[in-house]
Amino acid sequence: MKIDGRTRLVAIFGDPIDHTLSPAIQNAAFEHLGLNLVYVPFHVRPADLKAALGSIRTLGFIGANITIPHKERVMRSLDDVHVHAKDVGAVNTVVNKKGRLIGYNTDGAGYLLSLREETGFSVRGKKVVILGAGGASRAIFHALLDARPASVVISNRTPKRAADLAREFAKRFKNTVIRTVPFKKGPLSEEAQSADLLVNTTSLGMTGQARLDFPGQARLDFPVESLPKSAVVSDIVYRPLETVLLKKARSRGLKTHDGLSMLVRQGSIGFELWTGKKAPVELMRKAAKKALGLR
Ligand code: ATR
Repeated sequence: MKIDGRTRLVAIFGDPIDHTLSPAIQNAAFEHLGLNLVYVPFHVRPADLKAALGSIRTLGFIGANITIPHKERVMRSLDDVHVHAKDVGAVNTVVNKKGRLIGYNTDGAGYLLSLREETGFSVRGKKVVILGAGGASRAIFHALLDARPASVVISNRTPKRAADLAREFAKRFKNTVIRTVPFKKGPLSEEAQSADLLVNTTSLGMTGQARLDFPGQARLDFPVESLPKSAVVSDIVYRPLETVLLKKARSRGLKTHDGLSMLVRQGSIGFELWTGKKAPVELMRKAAKKALGLR
């Protein structure tokens, strides 16, 4: 890596930020294309977010990624927010356009692109089951609705969050039937029987977290066995790359889609927004796997 008087920075702001894979992914791409750019993580606490954004302008960074827990609050401090990010209610990518900070959300598009690339799945007219109703769910749910599925069933440990999200999106996306279902094995098993796509957007299955532990029942996994043979199973968790959910799906012969693909794809869209160049996606995926300690 060569750093000189013309080197420009791209930042990632988060709290915590220690485990981010994005520097490995982006720096590999910058280097590969010979761009005089460096991607650097910064630990930014909520109280310092506004000042950190100001430094993008002051120090002439070309942009930034915004991650947990700032994705929603950051919107207030930007000069403009792309209509899609406004709709989702969260920004994960900022572009510095001559001192004006513009917010984008590449999570949903990254999810959908990688889903299509990895599994060939087409959302239109299909039935989707989503687990989780947090920030990641919002972006993925929105992107899926844009692709016009026949129905989406959302299930969350805290039912109110799922109900609120379902109500909000039902007003905007009238072509899709949107329902909620209790986060319990029985009702989920019933929904699974006619599902075409199952997406886990919760942190369940992540290293260090409990497995799919449904309330009142310890370590009860999602009823993968109820899904049809043609179903696709998608998990946004990438530590481990093959979660218990994906392992079970694969052992039943179902197509799977892992969280690293989404991470790489949302990053590749950010790369293209910052540089105006086509992202070397395969190279970025290899760099991400290497950073995870995989080959
Ligand atoms: P993110 O931005 O990653 O989506 P989030 O907004 O904190 O993060 O959302 C986390 C999601 O994982 C939520 O759907 C959360 O369920 P609750 O709304 O009930 O909190 C879900 N989640 C996290 N830990 C969980 C657990 N142990 N069991 C079930 N769901 C869990």
